Amino acid sequence: MLFVQSRLVIGVVAAMVAVGPVGGAAAAAEETIKVGVVVEMSGPFAPFGRQITNGMKAYMKANGDKVAGKKIELVIRDTTGPAPDVAKRLAQELVTRDKVQFLAGFGLTPNAMAVAPVATEAKVPMIIMNAATSAITTKSPYVLRVSFTLPQVTAPIAEWAAKNKIKKAYTLVTDYGPGLDAEATFKKVFTANGGEVTGSVRVPLKNPEFAPFIQRIKDAKPEAVFIFTPAGETAVAFMKAFAERGLDKAGIKLIATGDVTDDDVIDAMGDAALNVITSHHYSAVHKSPENDAFKKAYAEVAGPTARPNFMAVGGWDGMHLIYEIMKKLGGLIDGDKAVAAAKGMAIQSPRGAITIDPATRDVIQDVYVRKVQKANGKYVNVEFDKFAKVKDPGKTP
Ligand code: DHB
Repeated sequence: MLFVQSRLVIGVVAAMVAVGPVGGAAAAAEETIKVGVVVEMSGPFAPFGRQITNGMKAYMKANGDKVAGKKIELVIRDTTGPAPDVAKRLAQELVTRDKVQFLAGFGLTPNAMAVAPVATEAKVPMIIMNAATSAITTKSPYVLRVSFTLPQVTAPIAEWAAKNKIKKAYTLVTDYGPGLDAEATFKKVFTANGGEVTGSVRVPLKNPEFAPFIQRIKDAKPEAVFIFTPAGETAVAFMKAFAERGLDKAGIKLIATGDVTDDDVIDAMGDAALNVITSHHYSAVHKSPENDAFKKAYAEVAGPTARPNFMAVGGWDGMHLIYEIMKKLGGLIDGDKAVAAAKGMAIQSPRGAITIDPATRDVIQDVYVRKVQKANGKYVNVEFDKFAKVKDPGKTP
């Protein structure tokens, strides 16, 4: 069947070439599949775009830039940060002017939310490589997410904490989609396992000032504080304030989602991050042949000292998904068929096996409990426990 389709394409191309240079150009253009990448490439969230696009490029470096007889081309556009209006305009231009056949990228939730209606209107699959608010997949039937959701990675640490002698916890989250998901899930699961949340604070996404909130938590003297902040600079600022106010010395344990101990910036946190326990789907020191291959290709693209994080894995796996869809459809991309092809697809990721849940278009994956330790002069998230095949608990009946 695939063979018959590709022969048909060759026939059409030959006919177009025969009519002259214009037909030839059109035929050549058809041989390229464009992926429109909407990401944060400048401003404080620029590491998100860098990680995601380098992960995508690493996949192409390791697997070639041709699949199912087509050349793959990335068209990268910068949202400049959390800027929903910019993200929406860029996505509209990508589908109407550049004629991309996939939309991809999306580090931050507000940008993904703004683009979902564009994907629906244009019937273009939209591959989320990081943004992790649970509801994003419900905003368009064309959304496919290869990253994770906050409820999916928060439920394991909430259960683990309650089962490991932490009975009273405070929560501190960034005040937008993923933070609200993390706060709600932590409260629900921690309480269901016998814990008590004694207080909750939320900090703004832009220019957060952690010190007053951290002082409030210190005064309340909980056994532990559960944190969600976006990965990167925000997490470093939080960790510094936590250590400066002496919460660790006051015996208040820090537990978090792995966003906070992001591999990209963990060395900048230094000893402040030591022994912090988090749950997440990817650690750079995860042991698997797929992770070794990923890190090798990432170093070729980003340089030998660059350290990939979970967002880079999202970029890599998103490209892997696109390649598998292309193979399944014989290179002939149709938005509806592409989404149908992706449902239920299983991929061997650098983090372990992942499956696109046909019911939600989110990933089903193992979530690890990890502890920050120092190895060979570097800070790393060492996995020591695993919750297998976790789904987003909020979407599971
Ligand atoms: C988002 C989620 C994250 O887990 C993160 O580290 C950064 C951003 C988001 O959905 O905006």
